[in-house]
Amino acid sequence: MDHSLNVLREGYLFITNRNIGFQSDIFETRLLGERAICMRGEEAARLFYDPDKFVRTGAAPKRVLKTLFGEGGVQTLDDSEHHHRKAMFMSLMNKEALQQMRMITRKHWELAGSRWESADQVEIYKEAQEVLCRVACEWAAVPLPESEATEKTGWFAAMIEATAAFGIKHRKGRSTRGQAEEWIQRLVADVRNGVLKPPEDSVLHTMSWHRDLTCELLDEKTAAVEIINILRPIVAVAIYVCFTALAIIQQPDERKKLMTSDEKLLKNFVQEVRRFYPFFPFVPARVRKDFIWQGYSFEKGVLTLLDLYGTNHHPSIWEQPELFKPDRFNNWNGSPFNFIPQGGGDHDVGHRCAGEWITLEIMKESLDFLANKISYEVPVQDVSFSFQKMPSLPHSRIIIQRVKTLY
Ligand code: HEM
Repeated sequence: MDHSLNVLREGYLFITNRNIGFQSDIFETRLLGERAICMRGEEAARLFYDPDKFVRTGAAPKRVLKTLFGEGGVQTLDDSEHHHRKAMFMSLMNKEALQQMRMITRKHWELAGSRWESADQVEIYKEAQEVLCRVACEWAAVPLPESEATEKTGWFAAMIEATAAFGIKHRKGRSTRGQAEEWIQRLVADVRNGVLKPPEDSVLHTMSWHRDLTCELLDEKTAAVEIINILRPIVAVAIYVCFTALAIIQQPDERKKLMTSDEKLLKNFVQEVRRFYPFFPFVPARVRKDFIWQGYSFEKGVLTLLDLYGTNHHPSIWEQPELFKPDRFNNWNGSPFNFIPQGGGDHDVGHRCAGEWITLEIMKESLDFLANKISYEVPVQDVSFSFQKMPSLPHSRIIIQRVKTLY
């Protein structure tokens, strides 16, 4: 039986529910009309990120490529082509760039906080998206005229929300991807013909002048897809910021510990936000060639899903996984396969998220801002969130009022 409808019904819990029912971390099903193997846990992640066992070509569904990823991007490449493209991404994630990201994020939160003092109420999710769109463009050296900030934020938000949506919402994501690609393609053309001169170490410069393995420049569309692969997910960090705000409200004892802005405590807290709350449910790959693992046969071409949410909540990895406990990260062993909110394995040669380190920098700064740099009241609201809707968010998007800045 095809279980695609159950994925929509059960969302983040689709794989975990069956793991519990079958008492197994691996099972086979049918999804979108084809066989699919679903698995979770540390050993499953170790297998999934073995490049001799799985490939990404042909793994992501068309609806994801048309909205979230874009076509021809790094997510769909394998082997030397992937390593070469990924090296370009990782070259942008150096220490100075991370520090710069932190400073830019601080500046834009402080500007936003000052605006909020004269507002009746503020919706954290909406505000975080716009703040992070400005942050993303400034960090990447993509010009963003003030008059266009809200529109461009809306484009990225539509792409993020369209992937698991149907009807108008999905179509909007597809059309805004087209608009965003045209916008960035024009900038790439301007860089190449000298009209625009971004700093040499910037995203816009690096990606506009990147050459593939045959020493050819990327075509303008692919360069735009990759630049959007930086901008869009930075805006998506707003989802984590919204859950961070929820955790601050619901965990007053944990919040108190953050009063000194201690870096280690800020990091523990945001790591727990990434472990605890749902974001990316699972990642897909295809079996590279036939093999047997723990008695299960994997046949070439079969779709395989690794459950990220389920692994981050696996009871054999995490003690009391259903509790929010940032201190657990004092004892975490740092394995690249047991804590995988942004994928697992190696950043350089595998498909693990290229933006994981800047996500952490943005989140630590956002946490410090929301916990220590402003005071506010929290009106009564519905902060529950759904495990069916992807991406999930607190229903109220977190509303605060009577904001006062403390800086
Ligand atoms: C890949 C999650 C933020 C850029 C991924 C993957 C996941 C993920 C699950 C796929 C891993 C795999 O296929 O095995 C997230 C989450 C984020 C986030 C939850 C928080 C909002 C970012 C940021 C950037 C970024 C801020 C860039 C600045 C990428 C890229 C890839 C990727 C380029 C493709 C890597 C590859 O295929 O080699 N991310 N990500 N992500 N992410 Fe992120």
